Amino acid sequence: MEKDLGNYRKIYQKSELLEQTISDNPMELFQKWFFEAEQSENGLENNAMTVATIGADGFPKSRVVLLKKYTWEGFIFYTNYNSEKGKAIAENPNVCASFFWQDMERQVIIKGVSEKIASNLSDGYFESRPDGSKLGAWASEQSSVVPSRAFLDERLHSFEEKFEGKEITRPEHWGGYIIKPKSIEFWQGRPNRMHDRIRFTLQEDYNWKVERLAP
Ligand SMILES: Cc1cc2nc3c(=O)[nH]c(=O)nc-3n(C[C@H](O)[C@H](O)[C@H](O)COP(=O)(O)O)c2cc1C
Repeated sequence: MEKDLGNYRKIYQKSELLEQTISDNPMELFQKWFFEAEQSENGLENNAMTVATIGADGFPKSRVVLLKKYTWEGFIFYTNYNSEKGKAIAENPNVCASFFWQDMERQVIIKGVSEKIASNLSDGYFESRPDGSKLGAWASEQSSVVPSRAFLDERLHSFEEKFEGKEITRPEHWGGYIIKPKSIEFWQGRPNRMHDRIRFTLQEDYNWKVERLAP
């Protein structure tokens, strides 16, 4: 099979990213960009981010998860702690998370260290989820090999019965991670492939070093 995509070409010209317009803290720029992505009302999941981990096999693996909160400290997402990513993070907490906001012609790349959030915070978010999602967290041993679709449906059904009329508590193996950034790179597409790239790197004194990178 062969398909040549060589003539796929887009001119990026919607915006620019200049040093004079940014503050000292990258979380402020993240907030501005996230807000602008939301404002564009594109109907897309602007909080979808690709998180890459390093597995015990030495390979990186990336997958999409949903950003559920960001604070000055970092970026929070929820998952199964026993999943492939959970096991990878337990071995090596260094991760890379990235966003591609296509209609803004923007990319953000975060390198950071992930850690489990406090269990009461995971409880709080779990409680806010619809019952179906709560039961799914019980039913799915995420990333394990399963014999069939029917197996999954039966497992879901068995947890529906187990929790019928009862409060659906958070399983221990399900909760949040916070990615605490060490560096955040902002990419704004520009014409002629002369894109703007600004990287913030956390220093030992907790200030951020700001550098422009060649596109
Ligand atoms: C749009 C989208 C959102 C997703 N959100 C999450 C999420 O918030 N948490 C999660 O565990 N998996 C989420 N997934 C599924 C993951 O991409 C992945 O399949 C799952 O977490 C298992 O990954 P792992 O086996 O590498 O651990 C999402 C997938 C997509 C496409």
